[in-house]
Amino acid sequence: MALAFPNPLPSSLLLLLLMMACSTSAQTYRNQSMGSSLTAKDGGSSWASPSGDFSFGFQRIGNGGYLLAIWFNKIPEKTIVWAANRNNLVPRGSKVQLTTDGQFVLNDPKGKEIWGADMARSGVAYAAMLDSGNLVLATQNSVYLWESFKFPTDTILPTNTIGQNGKLVARYLETNYSNGRFQLSLKSDGNLVLQTRHFPLDSANHDYWSTETVGSGFQVVFNQSGSIYVAAKNGSILNMISSYAGSTQDFYQIAILEYDGVFRHYLYPKRPNISNSTSWPSAWTPTSNFIPPNVCHIMEDTGGGACGFNSYCKLEGHDQRPRCICPEGYAHIDPDDERKGCKANFIQQSCNESMPETDLFYLYPMQNTDWSGKSDYEYFPSQTEDWCRNACLVDCFCAVAVFRNGGCWKKRFPLSNGRMDSIMGGKALIKIPKDNSIFKPSSADSKKKDRSTLILIGSVLLSSSVFFNLLLLLAAILAIFRFDYFKPKVLQTYPVMPGMNLRSFTYEELKKATNGFKDELGHGAFATVYKGTLESDHGKPVAVKKLNNIVTQGDQEFKAEVSAIGRTNHKNLVQLLGFNNEGQHRLIVYEFMSRGSLANFLFEGSRPKWYQRIQIALGTARGLSYLHEECSTQIIHCDIKPQNILLDDSLTPRISDFGLAKLLKTDQTRTMTGIRGTKGYVAPEWFRNMPVTVKVDVYSFGILLLEIICCRKSFEADVQNEDQMILADWVYDCYKERKLDLPLGNDEEAMPDMKRVERYVMIAIWCIQEDPSLRPTMKKVIQMMEGAVEVPVPPDPSSFISSI
Ligand SMILES: *[C@@H]1O[C@H](CO)[C@@H](O)[C@H](O)[C@H]1NC(C)=O
Ligand SMILES: *[C@@H]1O[C@H](CO)[C@@H](O)[C@H](O)[C@H]1NC(C)=O
Ligand SMILES: *[C@@H]1O[C@H](CO)[C@@H](O)[C@H](O)[C@H]1NC(C)=O
Ligand SMILES: *[C@@H]1O[C@H](CO)[C@@H](O)[C@H](O)[C@H]1NC(C)=O
Ligand SMILES: *[C@@H]1O[C@H](CO)[C@@H](O)[C@H](O)[C@H]1NC(C)=O
Ligand SMILES: *[C@@H]1O[C@H](CO)[C@@H](O)[C@H](O)[C@H]1NC(C)=O
Ligand SMILES: *[C@@H]1O[C@H](CO)[C@@H](O)[C@H](O)[C@H]1NC(C)=O
Repeated sequence: MALAFPNPLPSSLLLLLLMMACSTSAQTYRNQSMGSSLTAKDGGSSWASPSGDFSFGFQRIGNGGYLLAIWFNKIPEKTIVWAANRNNLVPRGSKVQLTTDGQFVLNDPKGKEIWGADMARSGVAYAAMLDSGNLVLATQNSVYLWESFKFPTDTILPTNTIGQNGKLVARYLETNYSNGRFQLSLKSDGNLVLQTRHFPLDSANHDYWSTETVGSGFQVVFNQSGSIYVAAKNGSILNMISSYAGSTQDFYQIAILEYDGVFRHYLYPKRPNISNSTSWPSAWTPTSNFIPPNVCHIMEDTGGGACGFNSYCKLEGHDQRPRCICPEGYAHIDPDDERKGCKANFIQQSCNESMPETDLFYLYPMQNTDWSGKSDYEYFPSQTEDWCRNACLVDCFCAVAVFRNGGCWKKRFPLSNGRMDSIMGGKALIKIPKDNSIFKPSSADSKKKDRSTLILIGSVLLSSSVFFNLLLLLAAILAIFRFDYFKPKVLQTYPVMPGMNLRSFTYEELKKATNGFKDELGHGAFATVYKGTLESDHGKPVAVKKLNNIVTQGDQEFKAEVSAIGRTNHKNLVQLLGFNNEGQHRLIVYEFMSRGSLANFLFEGSRPKWYQRIQIALGTARGLSYLHEECSTQIIHCDIKPQNILLDDSLTPRISDFGLAKLLKTDQTRTMTGIRGTKGYVAPEWFRNMPVTVKVDVYSFGILLLEIICCRKSFEADVQNEDQMILADWVYDCYKERKLDLPLGNDEEAMPDMKRVERYVMIAIWCIQEDPSLRPTMKKVIQMMEGAVEVPVPPDPSSFISSI
């Protein structure tokens, strides 16, 4: 019989595949007979494997359409492990069918063929989703004519092997399944390699890792007990990639070439009790085995390396993920795709001799940073740093100087293969303009407190004097929390919890790191935050939070809670590095954020750029949406305000202090002192006999969004017109009267973008509705902000109060 495979396979291998197919043991399955079909729609049906672990069907991907896929069906994440049409999402109403003449095809609603299983047509008797995660088309005698395992996308499962000429192609982004920038392939010569791709073409560019098994590598094996290795034809192991001793009984396992170019092996506990904690949140946890060891060190001759041009790559967080970061003065071309590279936020130095601009620029130092030699155009040995700085400053071609051990390199655009790593040594000196305040390193002056006078929550509350006394009391009780601290950086991690890389610090260690808890960054009723440096991590700066009002809770509960926070992983959240819980002490260690808080950014110094504010609003919304909807355990922040949104080097907003609401809970669920939150941002239901849900965060986000739009605090006592004291009221009045230019002030960048201003204002008004059920979810907020969904005209936020 004539089998056609998309990859040209040697006929011997083909035979072998056939033999293997024949010998695959029959499993129990629900057979899908000829004529069976599935249709793409929300809540559509799917074909489950007998155990229910896997399903095959359509998955909706964002607003982009449907993916015909196989996914883990029992876990909340519904992790996709295989896809038929990754580069070509199909619209609603598309259909996949095992036709009566033996084809397995995906057609769009017009009947156009989008994808088809590549196999012989005759002899197919049924299709079945197996418990291994393999989708098969088989004959009456259970000979597999086609298997999804033979055509993996970016993921392999236990028992799934990759043969010669087989490959995994990384997806483009975490949530974009299209072909991306990296691939793992077992070449026909037997060498297993990781390669960059000529994106958007479908060809390989540069090998950045290999097993060096030319002539002997036969297949990549992912066996039942979770070992991943390259095997020779005789079965001997040539190269062990991962040998985690977790069994497939207790864990779901996948190995995936991720969009960042790293091939990782992940585990997911099948039952929550494996880790001996009832509240243990389940989630995919990477094992410590991944390749390559440091993807930041990819050096391509053409192309940008692991990250895009003008950016640099750095391993960050407790699981050492590569991040692509823009140097000072630069911003991501596409904030949603950090691998696309960075662009300068300023006009380059002029090369007009009669008008030298040397005075207008300065060199911003970045330790342990370098870009590849491809960008070098001049080199001077045996010089001082001052000499090197000056040489770059007076040279209009010089974008960056690198100074190391007396050597001075001048580099020009585009900068490629950038990386920051303590093994690099030396420093890069980035040329940026002096005069624009946004380029100056932030003073990180966290001591500057905005000790706002007693504000009396929103007028919405004030309008009902029943609450007035209550509020006064509250204002007295509620402490002001302010934790303005910063800076990412972490290196070594020491696993202390099963499957996690959260580090457990000793109290002495943290005392030493903070110099005896001297350098206070901020404090509130429940905690004080100190700046510290970890000597064991090359003097990395950290923020150490000392919780002082922890209500007597068990060790286990604290650990479980901290681990829930530690498991969060999103670019808009501040990363937790570790903790200490010796005796009475409860301390949490975070990344230190150098650019300060959003409060400083918005309300101090010159008005930040409109586009930066848009990105900050969107990033904050995404971080919140992640906490509400994408984490394995839902996290309600309860204290969203600009002081709790920190900014990293590239002005990406990072939500801090999340997950503390639960840690700080009191015995009574919601007494006065139990209210976490800050006046002005607190949703009205805190004061009523109503359940507290994620919608309290939506309310606070609405207030925050107005502050971001107007660059003004939600309450300002010092205004001429009383109507302008409470921002939300003032903006709503102006919105009704179509005078939004008033609260915008003289914002020359925002004024031409009035449509967006108005849309954002409408979204904010929806968020601050008195009735929590009227407020949108954060997911909806993002869709509305991105323009994917129309924003209906919002009602008066306080219309609800009269009904109580
Ligand atoms: C599926 O079909 C094969 C071949 O006809 C048969 O041996 C097997 O028992 C069927 N399985 C189920 C669950 O119907
Ligand atoms: C995924 O990324 C590719 C490449 O940039 C793009 O063409 C495609 O539209 C994206 N798909 C979705 C669903 O966003
Ligand atoms: C199996 O093959 C490998 C590589 O081809 C070789 O080094 C090894 O000696 C062989 N082992 C046996 C037991 O034949
Ligand atoms: C998987 O491979 C490892 C390493 O060779 C071996 O110890 C283990 O027994 C294998 N498991 C199975 C089920 O073959
Ligand atoms: C805990 O896990 C074991 C297997 O690891 C299982 O047999 C047992 O039923 C589980 N207990 C609970 C309470 O889930
Ligand atoms: C579970 O944890 C408790 C307390 O930490 C310990 O006493 C017990 O031995 C553990 N059980 C297992 C099966 O690890
Ligand atoms: C250089 O600058 C001088 C002074 O501003 C100006 O007159 C001249 O036109 C500039 N030359 C070019 C080529 O731009």
